[in-house]
Amino acid sequence: MTDRQRLTSSPVGPAEAGEFLRGRRSVDQFESTPVDTGRLEEAFEVARWAPNHHLTEPWQFYVIGPETKKAIVELNAELVAEAKGEEAADAKRQRWHAVPGWFAVTCRRADDANTAAEDYAACACAAHNIVLYLHSAGMACKWTSGPVTHDARYLRLLGADPANDYSVGLFWYGVAKRAPRTQRSEDGHRPVRCP
Ligand SMILES: Cc1cc2nc3c(=O)[nH]c(=O)nc-3n(C[C@H](O)[C@H](O)[C@H](O)COP(=O)(O)O)c2cc1C
Repeated sequence: MTDRQRLTSSPVGPAEAGEFLRGRRSVDQFESTPVDTGRLEEAFEVARWAPNHHLTEPWQFYVIGPETKKAIVELNAELVAEAKGEEAADAKRQRWHAVPGWFAVTCRRADDANTAAEDYAACACAAHNIVLYLHSAGMACKWTSGPVTHDARYLRLLGADPANDYSVGLFWYGVAKRAPRTQRSEDGHRPVRCP
């Protein structure tokens, strides 16, 4: 297939695309089924086709294995214990341990504000490409950006350098246990019609 054919003949039509995009949900309760990291790595390949001004490729993706997961869960529990006490930390520890699939996205720091904003936007697009690709494979995700992700120790656990990289998100994935409810405002999609 030529590039032009790819641009003009999408494998999904508007009705399917709408259904697919509306059907994605942020999920934090997963079946204990082991996750397919092969799919995740396919998703990273797709992610880099996100729009990206000046093709800076500012993202870094991370597959989080069991040791790193455990260390992140413990670091998070430590932060929760400081803020809310041991009981809350234990509850969080148990909930986070139950999450089967983990990955992360960081963004490279930029010197000027415009590049920084555009690079973050590109990373968000890339991250959502991953989420949508996994959604197409029957897996749900949750994008998290809680306090642990802003802690330099978290970045070091990933192998990132806090001086050069910051967190875009820590992501959970797996087969959804149930569909969470969500809603959107009645007229949030209405555009301003500029003459
Ligand atoms: C940048 C970003 C950060 C987010 N961080 C969190 C988070 O820390 N905790 C959380 O529960 N959800 C987080 N979410 C998920 C949103 O809460 C979720 O998208 C929203 O509730 C709408 O639900 P839906 O994704 O199912 O449509 C985040 C989403 C984005 C885009």
